[in-house]
Amino acid sequence: MLINITGFLNVVSLASDYVEADLLSIEQNHVKRVAIIVNRLAAAAGMDEDTVYAMTQAGVLHDCALAEYIHDELSDETAEPLLVVSAECIDGHREVNMADHCIAGERMVSKLPFYDIIRGAVLHHHDRANGSGALGKTAAETPLCGQLMHIADRVDAAFDLSRMDRQKHADIVTWLRSQSDIMFSEECCRLFIDNVDYELLCSAAEPHCVATLDELLPDRIVDIPTAAIRELSTIFADITDYKSRFTSRHSIGIAEKAARMGAYYGYSAEMRDKLYIAGALHDIGKLLISNDILEKPGRLTDDEYQEITNHAIGTWMLLKDIEGLDEICRWASLHHEKLDGSGYPFGYSSKDLGKEERLLACLDIYQALTEDRPYKNAMPHDNAVALMRGMGKRGKLDEDIIDDIADCFAIAEQS
Ligand SMILES: [Fe+2]
Ligand SMILES: [Fe+2]
Ligand SMILES: [Fe+2]
Ligand SMILES: [Fe+2]
Repeated sequence: MLINITGFLNVVSLASDYVEADLLSIEQNHVKRVAIIVNRLAAAAGMDEDTVYAMTQAGVLHDCALAEYIHDELSDETAEPLLVVSAECIDGHREVNMADHCIAGERMVSKLPFYDIIRGAVLHHHDRANGSGALGKTAAETPLCGQLMHIADRVDAAFDLSRMDRQKHADIVTWLRSQSDIMFSEECCRLFIDNVDYELLCSAAEPHCVATLDELLPDRIVDIPTAAIRELSTIFADITDYKSRFTSRHSIGIAEKAARMGAYYGYSAEMRDKLYIAGALHDIGKLLISNDILEKPGRLTDDEYQEITNHAIGTWMLLKDIEGLDEICRWASLHHEKLDGSGYPFGYSSKDLGKEERLLACLDIYQALTEDRPYKNAMPHDNAVALMRGMGKRGKLDEDIIDDIADCFAIAEQS
């Protein structure tokens, strides 16, 4: 499908920020700063224009699988404790824990059309020149694109490049000299010191970071297989589900059920993938809502309820300007609309709501009812359908679609 990849990457960047701030205490815009620095390094290394552009995109994507990794890590009680990135542990060995998100991230970017020219950039972004990094590969065994991603990533993690001053720049240069052939190859240290100058670092710091990256990554419409976007959309489902720990399978559950309904209706693979993507993205606006409210135990005040409902318009705001995602944006953002006009964010009614919007609205409720939450057990399929039929009778949901869900997932339960 034709999509504005830059708009899509902006949403990846927002989602990555959320996970990195929460888990790794890294300042906002880490992936953007890495992208800006790696852009300079790739150009300085003599890479051609397309490769430099692709490396910049890979910079935004390099930590895209962190949430998937977190999910696996949290569910594996035998796993090592999570890494906390800081200058103190930069020489520690706990970084080996980072291998999983490197492997998962590489798998995601491998779906993109520009993958061939940046192969290894994400896979090796925690590998060290002396072989003591995440995958144990030395500089000689690591493609240059992976080494460049690593040095950009580590310098930001260790020095917090969101704020820059002359002293910090001098400290970085001193530190890089001390790390030659230890963390980074001599070539990478030299490339960084000679080309990532103080001015470039200032342009990557706040408040200029967003504008700088916008210049380096102008809008570009590219043709990406819908199946690849589907794969990448799991990034958003994982991160949204990670944020809402009460509903930790909600987005991915809706994505899977939406695709399943597409199969039930006999839709094409393209259409099934689009439904999956809409399901994966539908609650991404929750990334804009405070967890204090999202996970508040007990009754919400009117203002808090209003704040939670804002997640639907949040999804709309995040997706609406991404060329190529127009349809998916509608299906995803309108999942709280009701046929009688009593829903949100826009109060649309039956005349405005197509089949896919209605389907996502029904699936959101079906998934919520049939999933376990800390304060309630999953409702059995038949009870959930009965409750939804009541909503259908009251003019809220599409009764035909409820029948289809009843049929499709009854079959699914039996199989
Ligand atoms: Fe990473
Ligand atoms: Fe990173
Ligand atoms: Fe929602
Ligand atoms: Fe939802």
